[in-house]
This record gives sequence, C-alpha cells and structure tokens, in this order.
Amino acid sequence: MFKKKTVKGVDVRGRRVLVRVDFNVPLSEGSVTDDTRVRAALPTIRYLVDHGARVIIASHLGRPSGEPDPRFSLRPVRRVLQRLIGRNVVFVDDIAGSDAREAVERMVDGEILMLENVRFDPGEKANDPGFAAKLASLADIYVDDAFGAAHRAHASTVGVADHLPAYAGLLLAREVETLSGMLLDPERPFVAILGGSKVSDKFGVIDRLLESVDTLIIGGGMCFTLLVAKGVDVGKSLVEDEWVEPAKEMLAKAADNDVDLLLPVDFIVAEEITEDADTSIVGREEIPADMMGLDIGPTTVELFKGAISSARTVFWNGPMGVFELTPFETGTRAVASAVARNSRAVSVVGGGDSVGALKKFGLEERITFVSTGGGASMKLLEGSVLPGIEALLDA
Ligand code: 3PG
Repeated sequence: MFKKKTVKGVDVRGRRVLVRVDFNVPLSEGSVTDDTRVRAALPTIRYLVDHGARVIIASHLGRPSGEPDPRFSLRPVRRVLQRLIGRNVVFVDDIAGSDAREAVERMVDGEILMLENVRFDPGEKANDPGFAAKLASLADIYVDDAFGAAHRAHASTVGVADHLPAYAGLLLAREVETLSGMLLDPERPFVAILGGSKVSDKFGVIDRLLESVDTLIIGGGMCFTLLVAKGVDVGKSLVEDEWVEPAKEMLAKAADNDVDLLLPVDFIVAEEITEDADTSIVGREEIPADMMGLDIGPTTVELFKGAISSARTVFWNGPMGVFELTPFETGTRAVASAVARNSRAVSVVGGGDSVGALKKFGLEERITFVSTGGGASMKLLEGSVLPGIEALLDA
C-alpha cells in the first residue's frame, strides 16, 4: 500500500542524514504550546540516532516572508526536542550557509543538529534549485518525515530529492498507510464524520468518502449548503451559494452508492457568534430568518452518537459547531466523546480543528490514530498526489 522506500532499509551509520520534519507547532511568548508534532517525529529521529547517523533536522515554522524573523525561529522547538529525546540537540542559526556547513562538519555519529526555519530563505517556498542543492549538499541521505508538509512542493520537501537518495520516515509511512488503508479496506460499518465551515474545502474528500463509507455524517457550517440543496430554509446560517448545485450531486451520489447520509435534524441557533449569545434549540425546518445555526441540536447529537457507536471504523474531520465558544461546543464535544468511547472501532482523526477539539476535551489518548497533517491529510484522502511523497524513491 505504501509504495516508497523507508528509512528502515538504509545503512545510515556514519552518514549525514537530512531529516525534513514538520515542526510547525503553535508558539506563545516564545514557548511551544503543543508538542504533538515533535513527539510524532521521535521514532524516526531515535531510529537514526540509534543506528549511528548524523541527524540534521530541517523544518518550517509558520509563514515568515522568506527572510529571518525571530518570531518564527525554531530555537524554542529545539529545547522541546532535546527534552523529549533526552539528548543534546545542537542548534545552528543558519539553513544552508557556511555556519550550517561548519556545524555539520563538526558532527559525530549519533549527534543531532537542528537547522533554522527553512522558510527564512525565499528559495524554500519557490523550490529554488540552487537553494535545494545547497541544502542537499549538507547531507548524504534525505529522509522525509514531514507528512504535514507533504502537499507542499518546496525545496526541503521536493527539491532536495533531486540530489540525494530520498526515503520516507516512519511517521510519514504510518500516516499514508493508515489514511489510505482506511479508505481501501475498512472494517465495516465505516462511518465518517465531517464538519467545519465550508463544503468547498472538503468537496474532494466527501466525493472520495462516498465511494468507501457506509454512513457519512455531515455537521458544522458546511451542512447548511447541503440543506439548501435539499430545499431547507436555513435563515442566516453559512451557505456557499455556488456550491448548492455540487451539493445536489453529492446527495445523488450518496443515494446511488447506498451511503446513509446523515444531516442534522435540529440546531442551536443565535443571532450572533459570541460567548454570551442568546441561544435556542430549533428543528432544522424552523431556523428563524434572522438567526444562524451554530451547533447541532440535542436530537441530532443522539442520532450521530447512535451511528458512531455502531461503527468499526470511524473517521472524523471538522467540528460540529463553533466549539471554541461555550454555547456552541456541545455537539463537537458529544461527537468527540462518541468517537473516543467506541473502543471496538479503529478511530482516525485528521485536521487541525478536530485535533484541537480532542485536546480541548482531553480525549486524544483514546483515539487510535490522530493525523499530524491538516491540509496534507485532506489532499491524501481526496486522492491527490502529494509532491513530498511522490519525490521519494519507489519501493
Ligand atoms: C500545516 O500546519 O498544515 C503544515 O505544517 C503546512 O503548513 P503551511 O500550510 O504553512 O504550508
């Protein structure tokens, strides 16, 4: 299923290995507030260290404008990696220049060196061949473990593979195996839950899921475009007018493929999206003209919970409402706990917002697999070729 060579088949002892990770982590006042992505990269880094490689870590962080910007330095992430891996991590304030080169020359087997944010160089996002060649010249082997950035064709995710033998890291391989395996050969019933604000962002994923799932649950802002496609009046709720026709096709495809498509039957509505909003519960045909649906209602919660509890494979992406605000968090919390409570199912959660919700409700540990990729996992699920994976050596 995963058709690329992984780091496990390579003799790395004494070799300089450039490892691209996705350490694009949230920072607050110079400290990492969520180390999930660092933890996720540990198996590959440990494997390389244990096998005597000289490990050169490269990553992006945030979206700096192609020049050094202290707000996006990887220096705070180095401290986290050092603590989690229990070893010294040398940091160099350079990417592919003379300081980085000298630091690499000083390395001994089993040592870890972290480079500064690759996006401090404009050549990174431009996939500039000169920058890619300079970066690659620091190493003998390239390992890509940055699943979260695999949908970006940048110098450190694609360009370097023109110069070095390129292998998948253990996280990247596991992400692809889990997400593709779920679509190809799921234990049934397979229930997918999609939410989030826009149907346009997830149309490709929905289309692909409709070929694989038994039940598709749709909540969040995106459900209103589908409800309009069914002729429901949704008041001031979020609707993408130009997506109503594609939504009709989606409904028809679900029917053709015998997929049970579950949409909310009631909502928590309010006139405004605020922490102290005046809310009420209404049936989906009764949304007042001046109100918006901002969370799924209690009858919907029971309907969705029932479907989730009978699943043997569950995929969840996207919140059911504006879960960041207390009045609208109930639906997302209920779905998250239903997914977590179904211990007989393989549960897979992908995408920033749903992972954020799992963390908020303290349920992350009870999920079989939480993807580290937001955009990348969506691209993979919709069947797109991810350039960062395409660039690796075929198995
Ligand atoms: C992510 O957080 O989704 C990845 O790290 C990619 O980041 P980007 O969207 O800034 O390329």
